[in-house]
Amino acid sequence: MLFYAPFLAFFVVFHCGLAARIQGNLDIYASKRLIQTGPSDKKWLTKNDIFNLSRSGTKFRDITDIDSSLISLRQKQLHIPDQPSLQQAIKPLFTNISDALPRRVLEGMAKFHNRFFNSRNGRESSLWLQQQITSVVAGIGGVEVVPFVHSFPQNSIITKIPGRSDETVILSAHLDSINKFDPEHGSAPGIDDDGTGVVVLMEVMRILASSQLKLNRTIEFHFYAGEEVGLLGSADIAHMYAKAMRPVVVDLQLDMTGFPTSPPVVGILTDNTDPGSTSLLRQIVSEYTDLKTQDFSCGYACSDHASWFEAGYRAVLPGESPLVTGNPHMHTSSDDISTVSFQHLLHYVNIALAFAVEVAGVTGS
Ligand SMILES: *[C@@H]1O[C@H](CO)[C@@H](O)[C@H](O)[C@H]1NC(C)=O
Ligand SMILES: *[C@@H]1O[C@H](CO)[C@@H](O)[C@H](O)[C@H]1NC(C)=O
Ligand SMILES: *[C@@H]1O[C@H](CO)[C@@H](O)[C@H](O)[C@H]1NC(C)=O
Ligand SMILES: [Zn+2]
Repeated sequence: MLFYAPFLAFFVVFHCGLAARIQGNLDIYASKRLIQTGPSDKKWLTKNDIFNLSRSGTKFRDITDIDSSLISLRQKQLHIPDQPSLQQAIKPLFTNISDALPRRVLEGMAKFHNRFFNSRNGRESSLWLQQQITSVVAGIGGVEVVPFVHSFPQNSIITKIPGRSDETVILSAHLDSINKFDPEHGSAPGIDDDGTGVVVLMEVMRILASSQLKLNRTIEFHFYAGEEVGLLGSADIAHMYAKAMRPVVVDLQLDMTGFPTSPPVVGILTDNTDPGSTSLLRQIVSEYTDLKTQDFSCGYACSDHASWFEAGYRAVLPGESPLVTGNPHMHTSSDDISTVSFQHLLHYVNIALAFAVEVAGVTGS
């Protein structure tokens, strides 16, 4: 852990107020949490009850800290295109797509025993990732990388590529991992889930930030903490944006991109997502990849798109396949780099890059 020690020191020096707050809140499970497992099924549960839900594969949201007055609020629906039209700006960018950065970052992630949100590993892995992201965009004017601090040790990370307008397209993935048999101490490389979503975003960011494209709308990249324990990181952020009435056009969430079915197809999630943006997503897959799509649904709140959807914003999710539990290694110690299809993963760079640019638009000046 010597490698990130200097960075940690930097963080402590410049954010000591923050650090004190984190020390004071190390265990969010000191008291019971309000857990929702379905639209009208809410219970106050202990840490062990919650870990049992994970073990059994039950989908849930932790809504303890959510301001429910925002939940039914519909945000202003900003314009999204009916169909792709920016092929001439987008397709030339694909020649720069490579698996070099994705491989290097996944290998770095695999060195953490786990990235559990409520632990030292979870915190250190998020600081390490912030450093990796910062080095991808280093020297590129106007691009910001900032941690989003929660009431638990792990940070989320937000990177912003400003456009002419502050209307924002979000590309997102989660940076935490979990071993369902032993969440706090078990080994959880979390490479497909969701290292593969994280590295797709980083490759899109690398290409966009180094391109000469002038974006009309702003693009943000969100890396969420605490997804595996009830969408905690994305819920904090989506609610903060909703309260501030931030103009978010749509969120595209990537959660697992490297474990295809045979033959490979792109799963298109139909629950807790927006039908209009999802129709654009299907057309983007067919325009910018050689893969077919197949619809699927995951049940209640299976990933961070649900936080945006619930805060009144649009969301879409292209899945690695139309199966919710297609990868048998998910949430175990064997979710490692040997199981990843980089060929499949790189298709999601095309999809996320094209979706972001089509929705953001480009300007001549
Ligand atoms: C959790 O599951 C274990 C084993 O399945 C069981 O023994 C225990 O009682 C459960 N705990 C709670 C709090 O439900
Ligand atoms: C590809 O990306 C690198 C930065 O990562 C950049 O220096 C280079 O100019 C890009 N090439 C093209 C053709 O866009
Ligand atoms: C730029 O964004 C604004 C705000 O959404 C929109 O009114 C305008 O048509 C967009 N222009 C282009 C070239 O995409
Ligand atoms: Zn996941």
